[in-house]
Amino acid sequence: MGREFLNLFEEWSQSYDDTVEGHDIEYREVFKHYESILGSVAKRSKGHVLEFGVGTGNLTQKLVESGLSVTGIEPSPSMREKAIEKLKGKTEIIDGDFMEFKAPGQVDTIVSTYAFHHLNDQEKAKAIGYYGNLLKTGGKIVFADTMYPSKEAYIKAISEAQDSGFYSLAKDLQTEYYTTIPFLRQVFEENGFVVQFDQCNSFVWILEAEKI
Ligand SMILES: C[S@@+](CC[C@H](N)C(=O)[O-])C[C@H]1O[C@@H](n2cnc3c(N)ncnc32)[C@H](O)[C@@H]1O
Repeated sequence: MGREFLNLFEEWSQSYDDTVEGHDIEYREVFKHYESILGSVAKRSKGHVLEFGVGTGNLTQKLVESGLSVTGIEPSPSMREKAIEKLKGKTEIIDGDFMEFKAPGQVDTIVSTYAFHHLNDQEKAKAIGYYGNLLKTGGKIVFADTMYPSKEAYIKAISEAQDSGFYSLAKDLQTEYYTTIPFLRQVFEENGFVVQFDQCNSFVWILEAEKI
């Protein structure tokens, strides 16, 4: 589900790790504090972790280094190849997406960084409902992604990207499904979670939801 942006990643996989290091000026702010954002997601995780959209495996590597067991799900073949190469067989990285995947026997935490915006709001609500059934009480969802406190803030971010001449970023913000914190809060609460949001840079927030 939500696989319509996959072609982009077949090409981007070659230079993705340069982008996260800030080599692409348009995306420098998006990836500001990238390493500490991923570190914070790993620190908030426990038990067996299910990770969606692993990309080149940067978060997966931090989770494994923290001593956690991980099942990684990644729909792009070339991203999967990069992650498998980086992880050197330390964990399983398999084909799948946010909704269509082979669930491991035990899931204590569900994580994802820079990927949940590939689902539109209807798909996000469906996925969160499904994860609510997969997790036991005390189970967690920890997602880091671009999101906005309001629709107005989202619209302002698009204008600011255009005004800075960041046309690829502006197009990306208008094409993919960046959502609002009030929307996510409502969906998590309706599905039996308590949720908190922590801002990491001008684009990215970490949401941490616990099943009650
Ligand atoms: C911007 S990259 C983020 C990679 C990595 N998580 C990180 O933090 O660097 C987004 C990843 O999400 C994957 N993706 C795209 N659509 C997806 C979907 N529907 N379900 C799961 N992953 C998806 C892409 O293939 C890509 O690897």
